[in-house]
Amino acid sequence: MNLVELESVSKSYRLGEVEVTALDSVDFTVQHGDFVALTGPSGSGKTTMLNLIGCLDAADSGEIRVLGQPVSQLDGQALDTLRSRTYGIIFQNFNLVPVLTALENVMLPLHLHRLSKSGMERRARAALESVGLARFADFRPDQLSGGQRQRVAVARALVTEPKLILADEPTASLDTASALSLVELMKELNTEQQVTFVFSTHDQRLLEHVGRVVELRDGRLTSTDDSAADTSTALQTGKSEVA
Ligand SMILES: Nc1ncnc2c1ncn2[C@@H]1O[C@H](COP(=O)(O)OP(=O)(O)OP(=O)(O)O)[C@@H](O)[C@H]1O
Ligand SMILES: [Mg+2]
Repeated sequence: MNLVELESVSKSYRLGEVEVTALDSVDFTVQHGDFVALTGPSGSGKTTMLNLIGCLDAADSGEIRVLGQPVSQLDGQALDTLRSRTYGIIFQNFNLVPVLTALENVMLPLHLHRLSKSGMERRARAALESVGLARFADFRPDQLSGGQRQRVAVARALVTEPKLILADEPTASLDTASALSLVELMKELNTEQQVTFVFSTHDQRLLEHVGRVVELRDGRLTSTDDSAADTSTALQTGKSEVA
C-alpha cells in the first residue's frame, strides 16, 4: 500500500486581496522505502507540500490519503494520532531543547508512547547510535556542532520508528561538508533500515545523492512524478515492501 497519496491537490493562501496558489493540482505518491527530494525555487511550494504530506495543513481541493485513508474524513484527535504514529519531522533549525542533553532530546517524542523510562532510554540510545552519536548522549546542543545537532534531530525523528520522515530544508543551516554527510546518513538509514524520507532542498549539490528528485515550479510538479519508475535503493536491495 502507498504510504501517502496526493491526488490533484491544490492549496491557496489569501493575503488581503491577493490570492496565491501555493500548490496547483499536484499528484504525488510516497511508497515505503522511498528517498525523495523536493526541489524548486523559493516560493515554489515545497514547504506547503511537506505540510500537506504531513497532515499539518489541509488541502483546499483534491484528496490526501495516508495508508489508504482519506485524511479529510478524520477529526482533530484522529489526525493527531495518525500524525504521531506515522511521521518523524526534522526541522531546518534543529529545534532541540537547549537545556536538555542529546539523549533527553531524543527521548522527548517517546513521552507520548507508553514506555517505561528505561525502555525510552534504551530506544533513544539506539537512535543516537544509529546516527553515530552514541558518545555524545550527555552533551547539550550548545556543546555540539551544527552537523551533530542535526544528527540528534534525525535521531529524535527516528526514535518513534515512524513510517515516514519529513524534513524541510534539513541541510540549510549546515556547511557543505556537514550537509553532504547528513544526506549520506539519511541515505544509509534508507538503504540499511528502510527508513522512508521526503525532504526539501535548494542545494543542487545534494541532488546527485538522491534516488528520486521531484521539482516544483509555481506550485506545479514540473515532470510527471512516475514513482513506479524509481522506488529508490530499497527496491534494488530487495528489502522494500513496495506492493
Ligand atoms: N501562511 C501563508 N500565508 C500566505 N502565503 C503563504 C503562506 N505560506 C506560503 N505562502 C505562499 O505560498 C507560496 C509557496 O510557499 P512555500 O513556503 O510552500 O514555498 P517554498 O518552496 O517552501 O519556498 P522556500 O524555498 O523559500 O522555503 C509562496 O508564494 C508563499 O508566499
Ligand atoms: Mg520552504
